[in-house]
Amino acid sequence: MQSFRVNLGRDSHQVLVGQGLLDQVGEFARQAGLAGRVAIITDSNVARLYLARVRKAVELLDPYPTTIELEPGEQSKSLGTLARVYDRLVEAKLERDCVIVALGGGVVGDLAGFAAATFLRGVALIQVPTTLLAQVDSALGGKTGINHPKAKNLIGAFYQPRLIVADVTTLESLPERVFREGLAEMVKYAAIRDAPMFDELEHASKGIVSRNPALLEHFVTMSLRHKAQIVEADEREGGLRAILNFGHTVGHALEARAEFGGLLHGEAVAIGMAVEAKISQTYAGLPAYDAERLIRWLNSVGLSTRLPFEQCDEPFIDALTLDKKRRKGGELNLVLLRQLGQAVTKYVPIEQFLIELNRIAGTAQPRD
Ligand SMILES: NC(=O)c1ccc[n+]([C@@H]2O[C@H](COP(=O)([O-])OP(=O)(O)OC[C@H]3O[C@@H](n4cnc5c(N)ncnc54)[C@H](O)[C@@H]3O)[C@@H](O)[C@H]2O)c1
Ligand SMILES: [Zn+2]
Repeated sequence: MQSFRVNLGRDSHQVLVGQGLLDQVGEFARQAGLAGRVAIITDSNVARLYLARVRKAVELLDPYPTTIELEPGEQSKSLGTLARVYDRLVEAKLERDCVIVALGGGVVGDLAGFAAATFLRGVALIQVPTTLLAQVDSALGGKTGINHPKAKNLIGAFYQPRLIVADVTTLESLPERVFREGLAEMVKYAAIRDAPMFDELEHASKGIVSRNPALLEHFVTMSLRHKAQIVEADEREGGLRAILNFGHTVGHALEARAEFGGLLHGEAVAIGMAVEAKISQTYAGLPAYDAERLIRWLNSVGLSTRLPFEQCDEPFIDALTLDKKRRKGGELNLVLLRQLGQAVTKYVPIEQFLIELNRIAGTAQPRD
């Protein structure tokens, strides 16, 4: 098992990554100083596979834990679902010293995290992420929330968990596409700040694809350490945390276009990283060879890097430029690579960005 601390003053907490940790969630909670009644929030897919084990493990704290099962999927990150979660917490008569365990992917983590942040003005939260995306990204950092019908993640709070327990053996049961999309977020850390990690990922790609648990434990830990360092330096996303958006400017615009075959978030980010690496060659001096290596790695784990069109159309350009966070006047704020392992932020005029994008889409498409 790997263990490290996220240093955030009074919100500091431990991160545990290992194999078979689900059965020890109760012990770990105790070691983290938690006691009191427990509510486990999960979704029905994860419940079928892992709820019994976690229930048994937390009996150490509460012989009759409350379990709340959501329907799987993004639509559960809603005000309606949240209201039902509050109802159950109230019915169970949980008090200020209770512990909410978020057992599942990013949907469960975000919603249960927001419930924990707001119920009785804040109760203890344990994140037990079970998707690769949640293990390398969403479980750490304290962003919690739900969607508004008009926009994703519009309602939320920064709220740190008291403990994160990532059991990599839960990744064995993930559907292929859901596992693979998590790899995009994993390689992102190497691309933006760790060249030696990229070398390691290149050597290990076959073992990673076959979900070798020791390799997953190693790379999930590395990813979370990177995220922890970034969050420690910039908890509320004032500056440094923005580099986590590498691949996401183009990625989000692709996701916003449903007609592109319902790309999963990580799949869109993989294409986004390939395109933004190409653009980095022009605007940040990234050697062509480095861009090629990143694209080759993505392809080697089964992620496509091909833009699903040959010419940017109006709706795509709108999706790209509507986000005010990414725009200043006629310029886009991009995260680019100076080299593999080193990110920089740059303002690029939107016109020039679109010319580059059309060139990449029309002719020199990133391979896959
Ligand atoms: N808080 C943050 O910082 C942050 C960062 C990135 C993404 N997010 C959010 O995360 C969400 C996406 O998370 P996700 O990709 O984990 O999706 P998800 O939670 O919907 O999980 C994907 C699917 O996998 C299933 N599943 C989960 N674990 C499983 C397992 N071990 N075995 C088999 N099936 C399993 C789920 O039931 C679901 O059907 C989005 O809502 C996004 O906004 C949050
Ligand atoms: Zn992402």
